[in-house]
Amino acid sequence: MKILLVGGTGTIGKRIYWRLKDKHELMTAGSKSGDFQVDMTSVDSIKSLFQQVGQVDALVVAAGGGPMAPLEQLTEEQFYEGIRNKMMGQINLALIAQKHINSGGSITLTSGILSEDPIAMGTVLSTVNGAVNGFVVGAAGELFRQGIRINAVSPGIVEASMDNIGSYFPGHNPVPMDRVVNAYVKSIEGIRTGEIIRVF
Ligand SMILES: NC(=O)c1ccc[n+]([C@@H]2O[C@H](COP(=O)([O-])OP(=O)(O)OC[C@H]3O[C@@H](n4cnc5c(N)ncnc54)[C@H](OP(=O)(O)O)[C@@H]3O)[C@@H](O)[C@H]2O)c1
Repeated sequence: MKILLVGGTGTIGKRIYWRLKDKHELMTAGSKSGDFQVDMTSVDSIKSLFQQVGQVDALVVAAGGGPMAPLEQLTEEQFYEGIRNKMMGQINLALIAQKHINSGGSITLTSGILSEDPIAMGTVLSTVNGAVNGFVVGAAGELFRQGIRINAVSPGIVEASMDNIGSYFPGHNPVPMDRVVNAYVKSIEGIRTGEIIRVF
């Protein structure tokens, strides 16, 4: 399969890359790193990416973030920051990708545990993760008619991120990277669609 992996140099993305690279034709994209540069917050940039890449069999997005701050300090603009980045970044990638994915192909987005198991200062991410999951549920039926599957992988905090951000996740069980990568493989190579593949 020809697979476009946005965020393919990140903590999770590079493990997806390592797992799939010998079996598939992989292209990575990031804002600065990767085979192709894209700013997922810009529709023009995403369109330009697909003009360069052409038709693919799968789009995988392991990118997108949002600000963390105490609820009492959160502003509307900080919500829009998360919406523009992790939410609409992934949704716009999926919307544009549907015209460039071969029949039988798939889209895999990334949400995360915070939509259902919250942490302090994580309300923006809880909100946009829920929206990404909702998009997958909403879009799956019509994408199915086009012969395209779509899923979201919703990881818990991964072991590899514990040193950086583990202190924000008291009592959470760090998830081994192999289990997280398996969820992406299931979405790409399997038969499921419209599902939130939870790896907590
Ligand atoms: N790590 C965890 O424990 C965890 C748990 C649950 C959910 N998640 C979610 O999983 C996703 C990946 O997390 P991660 O920890 O692997 O992130 P990461 O290590 O920060 O990697 C982010 C990746 O996204 C790319 N990127 C950043 N901004 C971009 C932009 N504007 N346009 C296109 N690409 C961009 C980066 O490449 P450049 O530097 O070249 O831009 C990099 O490849 C995120 O949505 C995160 O919320 C992570």
